[in-house]
Order: sequence, then structure tokens, then C-alpha cells
Amino acid sequence: MNDIAFLLNGTPVQLSGESPTRTLLEWLRETRGLTGTKEGCNEGDCGACSVMVTDDSGTRALNSCILFLPQLHGKAVRTVEGISGPGGEMHPVQRAMVDLHGSQCGYCTPGFIVSMAVAHKNGARDHDDQLAGNLCRCTGYAPIIRAAEAAAKAPVPDWLGRDGGMAQDARAPYAPASSDELAAWYLAHPEATLIAGATDVGLWVTKELRGLPEVAFLHACKDLRRIEPAGGGLRVGAGVTIAALRAAVAERHPSLAELLRRFASEQVRGAATIGGNIANGSPIGDAPPALIAMGATLHLRRGDARRDMPLEDFFLDYRKQDRQKGEFVEAVTIPDDVPGLACYKLSKRFDQDISAVCGCFNLVLNGSKIESARIAFGGMAGTPKRAVAVEAALTGKEWCEATIETAIPGFARDFTPMSDMRASAEYRLRTAQNMLWRYFHAHSGTTISVLEVSP
Ligand SMILES: Cc1cc2nc3c(=O)[nH]c(=O)nc-3n(C[C@H](O)[C@H](O)[C@H](O)COP(=O)(O)OP(=O)(O)OC[C@H]3O[C@@H](n4cnc5c(N)ncnc54)[C@H](O)[C@@H]3O)c2cc1C
Ligand code: FES
Ligand code: FES
Repeated sequence: MNDIAFLLNGTPVQLSGESPTRTLLEWLRETRGLTGTKEGCNEGDCGACSVMVTDDSGTRALNSCILFLPQLHGKAVRTVEGISGPGGEMHPVQRAMVDLHGSQCGYCTPGFIVSMAVAHKNGARDHDDQLAGNLCRCTGYAPIIRAAEAAAKAPVPDWLGRDGGMAQDARAPYAPASSDELAAWYLAHPEATLIAGATDVGLWVTKELRGLPEVAFLHACKDLRRIEPAGGGLRVGAGVTIAALRAAVAERHPSLAELLRRFASEQVRGAATIGGNIANGSPIGDAPPALIAMGATLHLRRGDARRDMPLEDFFLDYRKQDRQKGEFVEAVTIPDDVPGLACYKLSKRFDQDISAVCGCFNLVLNGSKIESARIAFGGMAGTPKRAVAVEAALTGKEWCEATIETAIPGFARDFTPMSDMRASAEYRLRTAQNMLWRYFHAHSGTTISVLEVSP
């Protein structure tokens, strides 16, 4: 029995016989006539398709274009049609958008309304971050942000307070309920595709039109969503979302949290998992260089067999990871004690963009000497990779400009970056070198973030 059950705008729906890789956006528009939810990019970039999803972990805005129907089982979904009241009463964010002229052509507006209503419900006031995943081509963001600010003080309408996750007796379809179940199933179906947040896999379906004959969803494995202290570090389950990880490391690792703030958008961070970011093996994934610089340990599982490795050893070659058939990422452990960590993400746009270069530095100083150095980069090779020649040139040396000068040539030995639409090889090499200077100057107390510069 593969029934999918969820609440749609307050009304229970039950679906049978749907393809597990049918997207919510397509289903809403084609079978329900809920065309307020727009298709813009169909790849998670523009937010026009945003929907409100509530479950036991709270309320999130998600992109319905890369959300598969089984991911909704047991949850409550609201489209823009369900944001206003049952009698057509406007939500405070809708009223504010009208009053403050937050819409012109209107194509982006339903997505903005949903994201704003989610932020409003969660009491979130960081409007720029909350709305960075919603693109508007004609109004300009200032009136929209003004509307979000104006609506912030109004109470949450009672019709939105009623969405809890649905109590579910039936098990989630295509979704093992624990990592033990997943391990046994995957061993028997090693060719299957695992789907966690679907923020990468979703695009294989919507853009590459790939058929995925056999899939398993990971969202029902509650034990994979745990974050717990373990041996001087934090063991983070593979199913932990980037949003949850960001919250968990905010105090202890502020530089990692800031990097994660710039990971995609609110909608993507609420779905994307750390396990997916690592397993995907992209050379421009943001978490791996940071975690490698921190000295993180990866935990893999195949059936009942488990193995651990330093995270950097997992990435063998371009899109080739040290993962056997039937083996999955169970967790990653991040050390607690990394006070020298700094992560620098360089992308064409500040928000909601993939890195051209992501440089992560973890130097330990002892007096005026560099005791140890771990430096890792994304975007500089076919895999996330350590800068071993640069590290060697720094370790044991004085912490001064002359040492940095002698370490800089090491970058050309460590990396042969490529040119692509994000950056040229020369630009990548130069900016990576400059990131070391940036780290040096930051340690000397110079303001290095554009966000900290004041006139
Ligand atoms: C608009 C947009 C913006 C993005 N911006 C960024 C960004 O700024 N930085 C960044 O790093 N990434 C970015 N991404 C990429 C993506 O969000 C991340 O790679 C994300 O972490 C993938 O996680 P997921 O849970 O969605 O993985 P999925 O899409 O579900 O899976 C990705 C891959 O990992 C496999 N997999 C998933 N979980 C496991 C597991 N536990 N064990 C083994 N295999 C597993 C899947 O089979 C698949 O091969 C962006 C994506 C989009 C759509
Ligand atoms: S249509 Fe653009 S994010 Fe979904
Ligand atoms: S109002 Fe036209 S795209 Fe935003």
C-alpha cells in the first residue's frame, strides 16, 4: 500500500498510485487547479512555487517544484490559496503587500506571500534572509521588505494555527522508518536512488528528465535527524537539514553558521540535508570544505557494517566517492574545539548562489607561531580538497606577513582550478590566495567582511 496522505489547505487528501517522483508543484497545478503556486525556474532558484509545510519539526517554506509527493506524507501543506482565511480574509502579509505596493506584474507575489506568511508564523524578523530565495524582477525588494516589517507585529491568523502534522498510523510510502530498516533495504536494493531533501535529486527529474526506477526516501528515519554530543564533538545525523545544522552550530562555530546562512535559500536549507551535501560529492558543495578544515569524521554504514574515515578521504575524484553499493552516509562528527575557523564563500551573487570558490581555514597559533594548519577549498579541484602545500609552508612558522608571502606559491602546487561560467581558473587561484591574506588580516583585527564595513 503506497498511499500518501497529507492535509492540503486544511483538508485531508489521500493519493494512490502516484509516481514517487511526481513533484508537488506539478500535482497542485495539474490535478487540483491550484495555479496560484507558480512555476518559474523549476529548479529551486526563484521561490515562485513556495508552499508552507508544517510537521513535527515546525513550519517551513519549501519549493514545491523540487518536492516529491511522498515527502509530504503526514504533513500539512498550504498553498497561497490557503494563506487567506476561509471567508476570504486577507492574511496580514497580504494586506501589507497591497498597502505598501509590494507587487507589480504579480508573478512572484504568491511565492513571496507564502514565504512571508511562514516567517510571520515563526516570528522571524530577518526578512532579507527569509526572502532571499524569492526573486522579483520588477517591483524591487524595498517595498516587499517594508511590507514584511509592517506585518510583523500582527497576530498569526487563527486559521494558520490549526495545521499540525497529521497523526499517521500508516507508514510513509517508499520511506524506511529507521536507519536499521534503511540499511537492510538498501543492501537488498543497492541500485536504488536515496532521496533525502531532493534539492539535488529534484533537478535530475525536472531538468535532466531522468527516470528513477527505484527510490527510497530518508525523511522518515528519525534517528538520522539527531544531533548529539559525541566524544568532544557533535555527531550530526545525515538527515539533519542545513537549517537545523546552522541553528545547532550558531554559538560554537559562528563562521560555519554564517557560511550556512549563505547556503542557497531558506526554502532550500529547510529541505537540504548534510548527508545529501556530502554524498552528492559536488566539488562546489559548501559544507565539505568547512567540515574538512575542522577535521570532521564521516560515518558510513552498509547493512550492519559501519566504518569511519576523515571526511577528506571520502572524496576520491570528480563525482567519485569512497562509497560501496548499498552503503550510505549515516552521520558526520564535527569537533567542538575549532576556535580558529574562518569560512569564506565567494559567489557571483551574495545570497542564494553556489560558490565559485569556498575557502575554509583552521589555524592554531601558539604564541607567535603557527602550531597547525588545516585549510580546505571547494571550487578549486574536482573534489573538495585540502591545501597541503600551503599548510606545510605555514606550520611551525612565525605568524607574520613574510610567512604568508612564502606560503602563497603553495596554492599553485595544490590546485589546478578550471574555468567555467562561475569563474576563470586565474580568478579562482588569485582569490584563493587572497583568502589567506584575508584570514591573516582578520586575525590582525582588520574589518574584512563587507557586512561589517560602515561609512
Ligand atoms: C536553488 C539551489 C541552491 C543551492 N545552493 C547550494 C549552496 O549554496 N551550497 C551547496 O553546497 N549546495 C547548494 N545546493 C545543492 C543542494 O542543496 C545540496 O547539495 C544539498 O545539501 C543536497 O541535500 P539533499 O538532502 O537535498 O540531497 P538529495 O538531493 O536528496 O540527494 C543528493 C545526493 O545524495 C544522495 N544521498 C542523500 N542522502 C544520502 C545518504 N544519507 N547517504 C548516501 N547518499 C545520500 C542521493 O542519492 C543523491 O545522490 C543548491 C541546490 C539548489 C536547488
Ligand atoms: S519554480 Fe523556481 S523555485 Fe520552484
Ligand atoms: S512583481 Fe513582477 S516579478 Fe515580482
